[in-house]
This record gives sequence, C-alpha cells and structure tokens, in this order.
Amino acid sequence: MRTYLVTGGAGFIGSNYINYMFKKYDNEIRIINVDVLTYAGNLENLRDVEDRDNYTFIRADICDRDAINKIFEENDIDRVVHFAAESHVDRSIVNPEVFVQTNVLGTATMLNAAKKAWELPDGSFKEGKKFLHVSTDEVYGSLDDDPNAYFYETTPYAPHSPYSASKASSDMLVKAYMDTYKFPANITNCSNNYGPYQFPEKLIPLHIHNALAGKELPVYGDGKNVRDWLYVEDHAKAIDMVQEKGRLFETYNVGGHNEKQNIEIVKIIIDTLKEELDDSDPRKANLSYDLIKYISDRKGHDRRYAIAPDKIKAEIGWEPETMFAEGIKKTIKWYLNNTEWMEHVTSGDYEKYYEKMYSNR
Ligand code: NAD
Ligand code: TYD
Repeated sequence: MRTYLVTGGAGFIGSNYINYMFKKYDNEIRIINVDVLTYAGNLENLRDVEDRDNYTFIRADICDRDAINKIFEENDIDRVVHFAAESHVDRSIVNPEVFVQTNVLGTATMLNAAKKAWELPDGSFKEGKKFLHVSTDEVYGSLDDDPNAYFYETTPYAPHSPYSASKASSDMLVKAYMDTYKFPANITNCSNNYGPYQFPEKLIPLHIHNALAGKELPVYGDGKNVRDWLYVEDHAKAIDMVQEKGRLFETYNVGGHNEKQNIEIVKIIIDTLKEELDDSDPRKANLSYDLIKYISDRKGHDRRYAIAPDKIKAEIGWEPETMFAEGIKKTIKWYLNNTEWMEHVTSGDYEKYYEKMYSNR
C-alpha cells in the first residue's frame, strides 16, 4: 500500500486534497497528515476521514528537523505532498518573517528529510519515491490588462509580496535539489483556489461571512484586480494527476481561463446568496450592493494573475472541470450548510485580526 506524507493537511487545500484522495483511492493508500495547526489549520475539515485506519494525524512543525526525520524513519513514505505554508498575502505584509521561517526553512527541512530517507549509497533515489511541492502562480509577479498575456512555466520569477517571495524561494530550493541531486520532485504553481473549508481571511469566504452578517464588504483599491479562480477539488485532482502521470523534475501550472475582477466576484457572491436564501431568512434583508466598501489598496497589490494551462492539459490531460457558476454555488451552499464551522473559526482571535487589518482603511 502506498504511503503519502501530506504536510499542511488541516488547511484549506490540504484537507480538500486528503478528502479527495480517500474518496478516490479508499483503502488503497495510507495518508499521514503532518500539521502544526496554526490559526489556519482545523481538524474539523477532516471529520469525514479521521476515523479511518489508513489515516494518521501527527501534530508537528515542518521546521522541526527531528520530528520530521522521525516520521520518515518510522514510516516508509512513498509520496510527499507539501502544502504546509503561511498562505495569506495581507499577513505577509504585516509580518514577513514567519513566511520565511515556514515557507523557506520548512521546505528545506522537508526536502532534507526526504532526501535522507530516500537516497541510496550511490546517490540515486529509491524507485518510485516522489515529492510534490505545492506552489502558487504569484511567484511570476503581475500581468497587465492585456487579455492575451498569461503565466507559463517558462515565465521568469518576479515575486512582489513577502508571501510570493517566500514561495518563490521555496520553489528555487526544490529546483536546486532536482538539479543538484536529481531529487525526484515536481512543482505545481496554481492560481487562486476557492471552495469549502477556506479560512475567512481570503476574499471569497470573508465576503460570504460578512454579507451574511450584513457587514461591509471591503474591496481593495478600484476592485479591478484580476484573479484566475479554480475550484479546490480540481486542484486536488491536478496534484494527484501530476504525481501519477507527470514527468519528474517538471513544473506544471494549474489554473484555467476563469479570470474575474474582484468586484465581479463580490457582486456574484451577493447575487448568489440572494438566490439561495429563503425570503423568510432575516439574513436576506441585509444583502445589497450597498454593503460594498472601497478601501485603501493593498501595498504592492498585484494587478492580474492568469494561467494558460496548456502544458498540464497536453501532457497529463488535466483541465478544470468545475465552471465558476457551478463552483461558486456549491461553495456558497457549503458555507450556508456549515455555519457552525464558520462560527468556530471566527471566534477567538479572528475579531482581533479583522480589527487590525480593516480598521482605518
Ligand atoms: P492554509 O493557510 O489554508 O493552510 C496551511 C496549513 O499549513 C494549515 O493547516 C497550517 O496549520 C499548516 N502549517 C502552517 N505552518 C506550518 C508549519 N510550520 N508546520 C506544519 N504545518 C504548518 O493554506 P492553503 O490555502 O490551503 O494553501 C496550501 C498550499 O497551497 C500553500 O503552500 C500555498 O502557498 C499553496 N497555494 C494556495 C493557493 C490558494 O488559493 N489558497 C493557491 C496556490 C497555491
Ligand atoms: P486573496 O483572497 O487574499 O488572495 P491573493 O491575494 O492570494 O490573490 O485576495 C484575492 C483578491 O481580492 C486580491 O486582489 C485582494 C482582494 N481582496 C479584497 O479586495 N478585499 C478583501 O477583503 C480581501 C481579503 C482581498
């Protein structure tokens, strides 16, 4: 039975990936989820799989070399899927150092531990071992409004935010391991994800949460920055397909022709909530475009991200399956049906975070 070591599996994409993998492979695989449970890690995301015999959760920091080495010593890990990271641009602007710590040094620890466990005396690697580093399209910088401009795997790195700079650095480390040691790895650079279990600091869940509470919907700058949105389960599928069918040592961009301005997204959220809520629901009365509030722009705000997923489509046959109209409906329904999840993650420190980020803007 193949054993996966997933880092950051209690976060948004990691938990969707684990849930996807068990739906697809059931008892054919074993997953060890290593997560330190920062504010973004939530074991409630894994309720559907936590009792499985072929699932193990280990609370550990990816920067903790001894703890990570021990996991490799005690388990014959076949695949690493490395999600664990600090992931929010706004937080990286306020506190860059933890991004360097987790995203750069944590990735170095993971690479070293896997290399140590998988390397043979002649410097080659045990058959079938693979490391997949999950990264972002933000490493490529920002595109202008030319609709024919896209990020490709060959686009030079030009990160702007401390978040994207830390992810670019971690990508470079993975590339260095591949180039220097022929370390068996892949990198995926994905566009913005949305879907269930996303922490409400990111645009879509934050605005769903605020709209339902009748609170202002903060839009940075002119609201015309563009992101290329991908339904999270399509990303999970892409990661699995890259490990199954991709060529080792290659980078694959994941995303796909679903570019939207932020202001369009905010209006779609309001419209969809109106459709989904019963007339008798008191939360419906609050819903209107009047909630939209333009606030001062994010520092260094990247204008546009867009992926042309030509390589992953041609080589692996992956393309996005969930149309945005369907995906956003599913997502909003999920948040409406999981108000308890939202209450749990927005209690405690969340109010302090919100106050700090959004007051005086
Ligand atoms: P997230 O913030 O929701 O989850 C991150 C997870 O990592 C959390 O469970 C957290 O507890 C864990 N973690 C953080 N620091 C850790 C540490 N030191 N040791 C162990 N665990 C730690 O992030 P996400 O949105 O699920 O993103 C996952 C990965 O995908 C990241 O590497 C991110 O850069 C990348 N990515 C995200 C998006 C997106 O739209 N969210 C798009 C492309 C790529
Ligand atoms: P976000 O979800 O933080 O993802 P990223 O910065 O990684 O792309 O933000 C998506 C876009 O939405 C980005 O252009 C910033 C903007 N934004 C707002 O306008 N208001 C908000 O409250 C948030 C969180 C983001």
